[in-house]
Amino acid sequence: MKYNILVTGANGQLGSEIKVISNDYAEYQFFFTDFEELDITKKNEINKFVKTYKINIIINCAAYTAVDKAEDEKEKANLINVTGPDNLSEISSQNNIVLIHISTDYVFDGTNCTPYKEDDKTKPIGFYGLSKYNGEQSVLKHNSKTIIIRTSWLYSLFGNNFVKTIQRLASTKNSIDVIFDQIGTPTYANDLAKAILSIIQNMDFEYKHKDIYHFSNEGVTSWYDFACAIVELTNSNCKVNPIESSEFYSKTKRPFYSVLNKKKIKNKFNIVIPHWRDALKRAFQAI
Ligand SMILES: NC(=O)c1ccc[n+]([C@@H]2O[C@H](COP(=O)([O-])OP(=O)(O)OC[C@H]3O[C@@H](n4cnc5c(N)ncnc54)[C@H](OP(=O)(O)O)[C@@H]3O)[C@@H](O)[C@H]2O)c1
Repeated sequence: MKYNILVTGANGQLGSEIKVISNDYAEYQFFFTDFEELDITKKNEINKFVKTYKINIIINCAAYTAVDKAEDEKEKANLINVTGPDNLSEISSQNNIVLIHISTDYVFDGTNCTPYKEDDKTKPIGFYGLSKYNGEQSVLKHNSKTIIIRTSWLYSLFGNNFVKTIQRLASTKNSIDVIFDQIGTPTYANDLAKAILSIIQNMDFEYKHKDIYHFSNEGVTSWYDFACAIVELTNSNCKVNPIESSEFYSKTKRPFYSVLNKKKIKNKFNIVIPHWRDALKRAFQAI
């Protein structure tokens, strides 16, 4: 049987990387949609779409991802990060569709000192994290075939992200200040895209459990060390200065520590995860 996969939010970082690798998966028929073609906040549109194209799997990459702006646009963030996933979950449940929903390390408060496991206590400290947490609760509500993947510090060749910002600054400035006291792991969206397809390939379609998994690249770093690695690959002489979070104005708080423990996803789906430095080098080669 050839499975039909709907990818929502397909013009974003992760959706675009799934598009890039989709040609390697001829056994699936992909339907890539973004806001213009399919607005996840419109239940009727989703219902019509999944029935018309006989969708078997939905990968929800659609999201409101502006962390600081979310503090001022709470209604919009809720609509996209909570109501949208709730719609997808309800319709998936009614149509026997597997829903793969993407969430974030920002559901945690960052007070751990060992990598976060899937069942560790969630306690978002900003509105974006809260809306993503409520989105998780929504998708767990309806559908018995649901996988949530929490990821962290996502970057890709597409859209705006930390890697592109540092690359740009490194080629225009003599020095930049970057926070050294927030610790986490970057995730190359291309590696997450491959992991999602691996899960689909290894999935039992009669699977009836709701599960949460963590995925990032391997290793641990700070934004400062990550920036140093980017500058090095950019071949720039730009100096990177380590600063504390308190020295950098930001509208919302971010977790100081959000390293994710990936043992569960690796064991369950036999996924081998590259180190973040290797992933970064591959991203530069792809550029
Ligand atoms: N970026 C990160 O650092 C990060 C870290 C951890 C977890 N995550 C999670 O990873 C997932 C993918 O993130 P990403 O960086 O790929 O996000 P992204 O680049 O912001 O892409 C999200 C896409 O969804 C679209 N969208 C917004 N509202 C929509 C709607 N109502 N219906 C359909 N599409 C809509 C956006 O369109 P517009 O651009 O026009 O709004 C955008 O194309 C998200 O769930 C995010 O929360 C991201």
